[in-house]
Amino acid sequence: MTQASSADLVKLLQARYGEAPLTADALNETIATLLNHRSVRAYTDKPIPEKTIELIIAAAQAASTSSNLQTWSVVAVTDTASKERLSQFAGNQAWVKNCPVFLVWIADLARLEALGKKRAVPAESLNYVEMLLMATIDSALAAQNAAIAAESLGLGVVYIGGMRNQPEEVAKELGLPPKTFATFGMCLGYPEPAKLSSIRPRLPQSAILHKEKYDAQAYEAAAASYNAVMEGFYKAQAMKPQGEWDLHSLNRVRGPEAMTGRDRLATALKNLGFQLK
Ligand SMILES: Cc1cc2nc3c(=O)[nH]c(=O)nc-3n(C[C@H](O)[C@H](O)[C@H](O)COP(=O)(O)O)c2cc1C
Repeated sequence: MTQASSADLVKLLQARYGEAPLTADALNETIATLLNHRSVRAYTDKPIPEKTIELIIAAAQAASTSSNLQTWSVVAVTDTASKERLSQFAGNQAWVKNCPVFLVWIADLARLEALGKKRAVPAESLNYVEMLLMATIDSALAAQNAAIAAESLGLGVVYIGGMRNQPEEVAKELGLPPKTFATFGMCLGYPEPAKLSSIRPRLPQSAILHKEKYDAQAYEAAAASYNAVMEGFYKAQAMKPQGEWDLHSLNRVRGPEAMTGRDRLATALKNLGFQLK
């Protein structure tokens, strides 16, 4: 693995935190890829070779998985009409239909249920929230490995939580069996250079990294400085001001009316065969 320069590291950290960078002295290509992440929502027409998808999924399968149960699956969608419908289920997000490959990540307890039936052994634990959480975590770990692999190959990605707006419709579209659930989607494509967004700053580490014990006050100073950093970011990007970051974020969590249909997720999950015990 080659070493990127420490000047690269300073630049990436400055972009990530918007202000005084952390001090760190080594940057390898893996960390450079991670720090360079930005969601990509516009793609060139260049198709993604099948073998590239297979390599990305191999990287996904290499992720840690609870008890090696591998309770996740992924559906790769390239059919234009299907992407169009999935885009509509996700609140008409254009990038879902425009990306060459749309990956839908699945929390998958159906495989173990079927194996249990075949072996005639009980699989009662599959009916508990714990198992759904496990499968959801596993699908996210696999997806993030895939995202990094894709970015390391020059592709861009954006996650699509909008897959949870209408879970039953998504399940029907993809032919999902009971006890499976699309946790989120992921658009994959080669980034359109003219529309590449900048690295989006994150909260200062003082809000995130707690030493020995959680500091319940850490958020205060951090949120204030991050509001200022994000204001600068929106200005620099000529993005329409979204209001201060904390208020903008609070607006997203103000109540069920702001949840784009996901307030009924418990009902949807029951409809999809999860008992949520
Ligand atoms: C689980 C998950 C779901 C997301 N859902 C959407 C989505 O439905 N549509 C979208 O445009 N971006 C979506 N995003 C992307 C986030 O908005 C984005 O990661 C965040 O604003 C930070 O920007 P960055 O990825 O460019 O650093 C999602 C991200 C995650 C992790």
